[in-house]
Amino acid sequence: MKILVTGGLGFIGSHTVVELQNEGFEVVIIDNCSNSSPEVLQGITKITGKEPIFEQFDLREKSKVQDFFKKHQDISGVIHFAASKAVGESVENPLLYYENNLSTLIYLLQELSGKTSANFIFSSSCTVYGQADELPITENAPVKVAESPYGNTKQIGEEIIRDTCNVSKNLNAISLRYFNPIGAHPSAEIGELPIGVPQNLVPYITQTAIGLREQLSVFGDDYPTSDGTCIRDYIHVVDLAKAHVVALQRLISSNNTNTNYEVFNVGTGTGSTVLEVIQSFEKVSNQKLNYKIVGRREGDVTAAFANTQKANEELGWKAKSTLDDSLGSAWKWEQKVRS
Ligand code: UD1
Repeated sequence: MKILVTGGLGFIGSHTVVELQNEGFEVVIIDNCSNSSPEVLQGITKITGKEPIFEQFDLREKSKVQDFFKKHQDISGVIHFAASKAVGESVENPLLYYENNLSTLIYLLQELSGKTSANFIFSSSCTVYGQADELPITENAPVKVAESPYGNTKQIGEEIIRDTCNVSKNLNAISLRYFNPIGAHPSAEIGELPIGVPQNLVPYITQTAIGLREQLSVFGDDYPTSDGTCIRDYIHVVDLAKAHVVALQRLISSNNTNTNYEVFNVGTGTGSTVLEVIQSFEKVSNQKLNYKIVGRREGDVTAAFANTQKANEELGWKAKSTLDDSLGSAWKWEQKVRS
């Protein structure tokens, strides 16, 4: 069965390609390499023994998307990762984000809604919940006003898919709301490759530990949490990748006859503070991390972690890795990349 993975050379995309190939799917990747590199193909091939088909182009070029689907009429499912994801950049350049993240989604759905049967998985984010009123967060928690254009593209993206599924009954879709993906493949053949200064916590930690950054700034220790730092749900990227495979299998076997559009949280269900992440990292890397407490970062919520019951019961999926496992793999990857 042939699956299109857009953004398949990126962090979550590449790990998902590996899990798809391990399950026997044939994978075609479209990636414009704006935030990734064709070298990632080698890592995927080394792990799985199979090189995925790769086409390098930008999904904003509608005619190329149309030509692609004419050429690959046997695509059974699409997992759509390709998108811009830097929160700060989205505030500075909202139109880029709306164009990049929404026009590409629309072009793909236009192709799929004309098919007799199509399966679609969308990369959404727990950012849609903002600061949820209740923890852990269930899928029924209200979607809050987005903090950034990036977050808004995820909310609007979900609405576009829901509305399209309402009228295109041939289209089955799932939005996966990721919590905080971290870590790398245990082989250290693929992992996260942030361009420039990392904005996210774990790559900043590993780059500080390796000597690329001088010091980690911990954004605020006056939150109403056990140690005053923010709480997040850090999920190993391999667990997250596997969630895509089971979601795809659910769509292919049309396991849910009640609706053709569903939403699932993908997290571990456990929240960790920033200081707990640092402690866990110090333990697995066997070294002290240079960090200091600074003021809060604008837009950060106090706490977010998932209620994963729906994914556990309906997808038969559960995260397996611990925080130590995830940070250990991130550290192994950082050391490999810089060696
Ligand atoms: C961020 C985005 C979120 C996006 C997700 C994608 C913001 C406000 N949110 O989530 O919309 O979906 O990335 O991966 O940008 N921290 C530090 N020092 C650092 C970096 C982070 O203390 O140098 C803290 C943050 O304050 C936060 C935690 O670490 O408490 C996690 O931060 P981060 O990795 O950026 O993820 P989110 O903010 O949860």
